Amino acid sequence: MAQTKRIGILTAGGDSPGLNAAIRGVGKTAMGFHGMEIIGFRDGFRGIVEDRRLKIDKAALSGILTIGGTILGTSRDKPHRMLIDGRTRDMTSVIVENYKKHDLDALVCLGGGGTQKSALNLAKAGLNIVTLPKTIDNDVVMTDATFGFATALDIATETIDRLHSTAHSHHRIVVAEIMGHRAGWLTLGAGIAGGADVILIPEIPYNVEKIAEAIRRRSRRGTNFSIVAVAEGAMSMEDARAFDAGEKKRERARTLHDKKEAKVELAALESRHTGNTLRLARQLEELTHLESRVTILGYVQRGGTPSPADRLLATRLGGACADLINEGVFGVMVASRGDGTEPVPLERVAGKRKLV
Ligand code: F6P
Repeated sequence: MAQTKRIGILTAGGDSPGLNAAIRGVGKTAMGFHGMEIIGFRDGFRGIVEDRRLKIDKAALSGILTIGGTILGTSRDKPHRMLIDGRTRDMTSVIVENYKKHDLDALVCLGGGGTQKSALNLAKAGLNIVTLPKTIDNDVVMTDATFGFATALDIATETIDRLHSTAHSHHRIVVAEIMGHRAGWLTLGAGIAGGADVILIPEIPYNVEKIAEAIRRRSRRGTNFSIVAVAEGAMSMEDARAFDAGEKKRERARTLHDKKEAKVELAALESRHTGNTLRLARQLEELTHLESRVTILGYVQRGGTPSPADRLLATRLGGACADLINEGVFGVMVASRGDGTEPVPLERVAGKRKLV
């Protein structure tokens, strides 16, 4: 008789709507169709290092389809650089040990770009890995979409819709900051769907003067309000140049001293960038003489119940993941392709980012 397969599952990186739907999709298919057993590891890769588990059975999967967050918990810990007792350590070998201790046939990792990279390292260390693409940023390569994005897009679009009436009533500029440090998909999507007047994304550095002129043009036509949708990672041309120079300096640095110096400079730029949306609103107010206000959407975009589109996507990917494990296909991310799914080698995904 064939031996019962046992799989581990964890969620890593920022939480995202649809994670529970995906866990349920993997679990129901693995247990119900393929007779597998599942062990859940808590709080991302840290859970498998510290061997902290959550029992995944039928009861654990019941009622979670519509719930936001992740029943497993998550963290941004990386296997090869984990803070343990105040020291950064490579915990890959501990993960391999615990994988063997539990006699796992595969480990399923649900996450975004960083998780795909960590997953590839674990595959190289000899583990059977399958990943699913999750992030509200929608910036994972080789998949049509990531789950979490559709829900965040709904939330961000609704916010822009709502901001219109208050901006219009007060004749104000409202600058809405939307998540996305490197990729502007969410801001672009919500900006277009919500009819924002200006859309600023990390991929295209902006010129404040030009934005102000666009707003002044609207005023001259009699429209005394504007909605500016800005991604948290969007920056002015001057700031982009400073970041570029900093990155190049870091790449060129050979000595420990130079590397440290470049790192400190980049950290200072990052820290200054934190208040960028407020600064932008102030600049626009000065340049246009229209009152400006800021709305930072923040973690509201990641919280709460997943949209039907995300539930469907996560369920489809989760089911396909269990089928692939049953067929013995490993070292892949389950990508969304049209109405179906496709296994993509992790080497083609890890370390890359899909930008606008
Ligand atoms: O990757 C998803 C995301 O929400 C980004 O849009 C955002 O820049 C980042 O995570 C925030 O990270 P954290 O949850 O660590 O604050």
